[in-house]
Amino acid sequence: MKIAIVGASGAVGQEFLRVLEERNFPFDELILFGSSRSAGTYYTCRGKKYQVRLLQHNDDFKGVDIAFVSAGAGTSREFADTITKYGAVMIDNSSAFRMEEDVPLVVPEVNAQDAGRRPRNIIANPNCTTIQMVVALQAIEKISHIKRVRVATYQAASGAGAAAMQELCNQYTQIASGETPVVEKFAYQLAYNLIPHIDVFTENGYTKEEMKMFHETRKIMHSDIRVSATCVRVPALRAHSESIWVETERPLSVEEAKEAFRKADGIVLQDNPERKEYPMPLFVSGKDPVYVGRIRKDIAFENGLTFWTVGDQIKKGAALNAVQIAEYLYNNKLL
Ligand SMILES: NC(=O)c1ccc[n+]([C@@H]2O[C@H](COP(=O)([O-])OP(=O)(O)OC[C@H]3O[C@@H](n4cnc5c(N)ncnc54)[C@H](OP(=O)(O)O)[C@@H]3O)[C@@H](O)[C@H]2O)c1
Repeated sequence: MKIAIVGASGAVGQEFLRVLEERNFPFDELILFGSSRSAGTYYTCRGKKYQVRLLQHNDDFKGVDIAFVSAGAGTSREFADTITKYGAVMIDNSSAFRMEEDVPLVVPEVNAQDAGRRPRNIIANPNCTTIQMVVALQAIEKISHIKRVRVATYQAASGAGAAAMQELCNQYTQIASGETPVVEKFAYQLAYNLIPHIDVFTENGYTKEEMKMFHETRKIMHSDIRVSATCVRVPALRAHSESIWVETERPLSVEEAKEAFRKADGIVLQDNPERKEYPMPLFVSGKDPVYVGRIRKDIAFENGLTFWTVGDQIKKGAALNAVQIAEYLYNNKLL
């Protein structure tokens, strides 16, 4: 199998190289692509060095089976035809095609089978905050339909890319040495701060990131579920956290919910408040599963349940989810 990574130098692209190593994904050939900024750079995967090629409108994707694309929505839109025209399956990490009807939006723990219907040979990887939330919601949905969700996110700096993560680190150093921190990637200084603004604001006052959580969750879960989100950037480096309130059709006990999370694919239950055991981004960074804890009956809503999730958004929220989709296609002879 021949695979390609577009955006190899980026936060997600680098994670693809690590995930491919860790999971022993069966490929014979690997081609890396980037813009003129990284073309010519070498990266190592499974002990072999690969040079980044310049992404161009040519025949470079002839013979490629799967292209993992994470180079922003503009690049995905511009190069989708070039990437797919000889039959490569494009698994796209950007928001470019997620809500298009003829593009499946897939989280393998929830709707893997959707990946089989892909008329344009494009499969979209959902937004990172949505991925970890639906993995947790699906466990509850299996025991009672979820009508409504309220969610507040605590999103790490690396969610905005490798340069944004570096900006946060630099700000702490700059402040410590008495300099004015440089702010380029975020709307404000993120060090010692929280920013309740991710992506652009839309007409209804929610941001695009928040509306992605509404629309993408419905598409992935094939559900009429309603999601009201507040997305906040926090000065964590890696792994997003979410405080989630769900309203189910029938009342659920905490024990039932715990059992559902224990049994679910892709979830680790970490919920032992007496021993101070609950998920935190510092410890979930680099891990595959979505961690769930702080499970409580909601005291403000009928049939309400409250819990806390943490997931590595570069891994499960991006590269790992895409590789799991590829594994599903390969294992089910859907390539
Ligand atoms: N970071 C996350 O947690 C996360 C999670 C889920 C989804 N995503 C999505 O994944 C995508 C990449 O995010 P990231 O965080 O990895 O960003 P990043 O660290 O800023 O990396 C961007 C990558 O895109 C490449 N690129 C940009 N323009 C290009 C072009 N014209 N042709 C070829 N390559 C080009 C860059 O290559 P050069 O270095 O050569 O310019 C770089 O490898 C975005 O769509 C983002 O929304 C990110």
